Amino acid sequence: MNAEISISKNQTIAPIDKRIFSSFIEHMGRAVYTGIYEPGHTTADKYGFRTDVASLIRPLNLSHIRYPGGNFLSGYNWLDGIGPKDERLMRADLAWSALEPNEVGTDEFLQWCERLGIEPMLGVNLGTGTPQSAVDLLEYVNGDLPTKFANLRRQNGHEKPYNIKLWCLGNEMDGPWQICMKTAEEYGRIACETAKMMKWMDPSIELIACGSSFYDMPTFGSWERTVLKHCYRYIDYISLHQYYQNNDGDIPSFLSRSLEMEEMIHKIAVICREAKMEQKEAHDIALSFDEWNVWYHFQKSGQQPPKWTVARPIEEENYDLADALLVGCMLNTLLRNADTVKIACLAQLVNVIAPIMTEPNGRAWVQTIYYPFLYLSKYGRGTSLRLSCESAQYDCTIRKNVPYLDASAVLNLDGICTLFLVNRNQTEALNCTIYFNQDWDYVQEWISLSGNDSAQRNDADHEPIKPQARECPNTKDGILTIDLPPSSWNMIRLSVNNR
Ligand code: AHR
Repeated sequence: MNAEISISKNQTIAPIDKRIFSSFIEHMGRAVYTGIYEPGHTTADKYGFRTDVASLIRPLNLSHIRYPGGNFLSGYNWLDGIGPKDERLMRADLAWSALEPNEVGTDEFLQWCERLGIEPMLGVNLGTGTPQSAVDLLEYVNGDLPTKFANLRRQNGHEKPYNIKLWCLGNEMDGPWQICMKTAEEYGRIACETAKMMKWMDPSIELIACGSSFYDMPTFGSWERTVLKHCYRYIDYISLHQYYQNNDGDIPSFLSRSLEMEEMIHKIAVICREAKMEQKEAHDIALSFDEWNVWYHFQKSGQQPPKWTVARPIEEENYDLADALLVGCMLNTLLRNADTVKIACLAQLVNVIAPIMTEPNGRAWVQTIYYPFLYLSKYGRGTSLRLSCESAQYDCTIRKNVPYLDASAVLNLDGICTLFLVNRNQTEALNCTIYFNQDWDYVQEWISLSGNDSAQRNDADHEPIKPQARECPNTKDGILTIDLPPSSWNMIRLSVNNR
């Protein structure tokens, strides 16, 4: 099984926006309560947030965290989550059939982000919410005038505006599962009016309009066209969401899904360019892939935790090696599309479809999918390079000519070239020849994530799937030949001698 890659530091795609290394915390399941926040926990800080969880989040070097939802957003009244905690009331969360105690709200979340050095990306409720409630929240968060909601923030202990720059105009408003779903016309209109008012209140913010909930939505494409017809002028990004499943255990098909993700990105980018032309607008809008991941294990298990409880333990995936490989391919896809995708959120961050898991009142640990994200976020900064790749291919149930090799490369700011390579072949190594002329001299580091069974998983007690440093192979005359193990994710760093 062979593959070839040609790479040059002069063949670039675009600078990589740091915001593609973002994630998502929703008031859902145990993401907040017993996830990031658990006042009685032995590691809780004085605000009630778990420091063991924070210490697993920090290395991910996240740019932004999207909050507070998700489907939860469309029924959330932000006023329920501010002010003295003992006056906050329990509410029924219709999105997830759970109880919301409102112990964590806007101030607690924003201040937790401040302590972690991560920027929040906030959503306004366009389900049960109104343009006015959205502007009121913006005033509460960013307002600097002596006005009602800015004063309320001051009264609640935060004198200075939080100055949050990125805002989502609702969530998945095309979905029948959404509280107060809307047609494209209805959403386009309310998004337009909300966006107008929000930018009048604070012209420094950037706004993300809802695109389709996923690729197979019957209105995929037409939804975006209609929404952009209404609100192009006032927005900066349109969202994409996609989760992949492997319910039938067909791993070759599952691992090919990132090619579909790439098609999705290309289609929406074209629609954005067409909308710009048709509406004779001057500014470009970019893509915000603000929910992406693998998601199926919990649903497949058939578990149904009791409804109407606080921290209802739903959608707790236990990821395997194959999931980490697809996450690696999806990250490569984001890097290869760095010219159009400027924001992306791994959904989610803790306990709910997440790389980080916690036991209530117990340990915190990391899943297989944590590692590709960790390394991409650490070494995927700089300029995305345009690779020329030839790879042996396979046919699977859902697609023909799937390359065994999935690749991306980044020219880091220090001149190192970092390659991220996935071998989709489960049984054979992929002999990969990399031509890089004299741009780099030697392999400084090779890390891989692999295992002898794609179904292997980590848990709180065992970590069979973790990154391993491998012996760096020699290069000769600007050529590197390397055997990528079966079912493996790899990071290879090419460096220069002191010339
Ligand atoms: O991330 C979990 C859920 O998936 C979100 O609440 C929703 O936006 C999406 O359908």
